[in-house]
Amino acid sequence: MAVERTLSIVKPDAVAKNVVGEIYSRFEKAGLRIVAAKMLRLSRTQAEGFYAEHKGRPFFPALVDFMTSGPVTVQVLEGENAIAKNRELMGATNPKEAEPGTIRADFAESIDANAAHGSDSPASAEREIAYFFATSEICERD
Ligand code: PPS
Repeated sequence: MAVERTLSIVKPDAVAKNVVGEIYSRFEKAGLRIVAAKMLRLSRTQAEGFYAEHKGRPFFPALVDFMTSGPVTVQVLEGENAIAKNRELMGATNPKEAEPGTIRADFAESIDANAAHGSDSPASAEREIAYFFATSEICERD
């Protein structure tokens, strides 16, 4: 299986709940390594650019409001099958449909505030990682 990188975001609701460490621990227990990380408040421009493919959808304004409502952590996860593995750990987009024990089932309240983001394909991962991190900010393993 290929070693991949994926972009993960712990969203404002989960940061406010103080479960960043718990979520990081789930990544690590699943064999994913955090190779870059930062905490920031997204500007509206940053949030709109990140979710540009959803511009025009009914939930877009609320999504931008939510993603700019408080700090987030963004991180690059590395490991075998990292893109699918991270999405498995997160669970379904709608927490009401997420498998028990997943991040969204355990920490998210609604589809509008769903605790975590993960890239959905190698092409998205490449774009999303570059959106937040310079190559020099991503740590290669020794
Ligand atoms: S879709 O419908 O398959 O295109 O949705 P998806 O690719 O999962 O991405 C939608 C992103 O918007 C967030 N979001 C919502 N999606 C659907 N409905 C509502 N009401 C909604 N509100 C917010 C959803 O969480 C996806 O963002 P990420 O960050 O990828 O989770």
